[in-house]
Amino acid sequence: MKKVCIVSVVGARPNFMKIAPVLRELSKHNRFQSCLLHTGQHYDESMSRVFFRDLGMPNPDFNLDVGSASHAVQTAEIMKGFEQVCDRVRPDLVIVAGDVNSTLACSLTAAKLQILVAHIEAGLRSFDRSMPEEINRIVTDSVSDLLFTTEESGNRNLRREGIAEEKIYFAGNTMIDSLVFCHRMLDEIPLDGLLSCITQCPYFIATIHRPSNVDNLEKLSEVLQILQSASQLAAVLFVTHPRTRDRLQRLGTVNNLTELDGNLQNIQSGFIYLVPPLPYMEFLGLLSRCKGVLTDSGGIQEETTFLNIPCLTLRENTERPITVELGSNEIVGLDKKKIASGLSCIITDRWKKGTTPPLWDGRAAERIVKTLMNAFGAE
Ligand code: UD1
Repeated sequence: MKKVCIVSVVGARPNFMKIAPVLRELSKHNRFQSCLLHTGQHYDESMSRVFFRDLGMPNPDFNLDVGSASHAVQTAEIMKGFEQVCDRVRPDLVIVAGDVNSTLACSLTAAKLQILVAHIEAGLRSFDRSMPEEINRIVTDSVSDLLFTTEESGNRNLRREGIAEEKIYFAGNTMIDSLVFCHRMLDEIPLDGLLSCITQCPYFIATIHRPSNVDNLEKLSEVLQILQSASQLAAVLFVTHPRTRDRLQRLGTVNNLTELDGNLQNIQSGFIYLVPPLPYMEFLGLLSRCKGVLTDSGGIQEETTFLNIPCLTLRENTERPITVELGSNEIVGLDKKKIASGLSCIITDRWKKGTTPPLWDGRAAERIVKTLMNAFGAE
């Protein structure tokens, strides 16, 4: 029987954790010829290559090297490059994940070439079209043939948008597959980087990179005030995306904000420590030991829910409502009162205790590949 040719797409940091378990699972089956394409949307060592290492991913078979640009240019460059790869490889299926520009560009390209598209993490909606990711989600889902959802709200959203029931598969969360896979290894491997000298000092982790929070310098100042008040309760490790780093430089000097000197030994409350983007394992290690998280990331809302770590989401909405309904997440925007009361609950161990959402069990990729076997006929 001819092998089913599958091209899986990664481009930006959150894609790597979502695709790695699927690649691992695909490699177990002779039925599939699996290739990996990297669009190059993220290209810094710390935003891309280290994740391949930590997640045990193969080197990409294709790299489009598109780099950074405006949304239109970046999306168009990916589409142009991906069309050429599809013409050459003629895949039977393209797998995309999440909601970044690479997801949108490659799903659209494949659909126009009449190649089947599978979308991992389908159906999430923030109902906020000012987020570029929301547009990416809606368009990608509307052109996908197999839609793998992570939570019940995703199934409901897709049905409401008229997606046929037989295209929707509630598979669970492949990002949690990666977390389960790597978290286990944390106890087994020698720890390096920041984890080699773990501190007894309690700390919060902050990650803030959404355009809505950092592009406007007034908003960014508000965020920093919030982090300053958090730092009065526990040291704040502010893990910064290149975008945030750039905007902070424009802001100039900020009180009690200092670079971490590569060592956690001397951290203390009263300070916000700037930390560069971290490798996956190092971030997980720090996350599992922190008091709580202040974030505007999508994925971290899920990871904290799985690890049952208090999470304050500095946004007005979430496309992942299960993390609030069942998990340890609360949506607080930049509301200083809500945040102060949340932080005080966290530091005195009175934060709500969450439960793990259905099918976040480390086996989502297994279910996804089983579905693909059924769709294409087993070996
Ligand atoms: C992208 C995703 C976002 C995701 C985030 C995770 C879209 C629309 N957004 O946002 O959903 O949460 O990734 O990190 O796809 N840059 C570097 N080095 C890199 C990559 C980017 O310095 O390796 C800088 C560049 O200045 C670039 C800026 O970061 O212009 C933004 O990068 P871009 O890929 O456009 O979007 P993100 O903000 O990273």
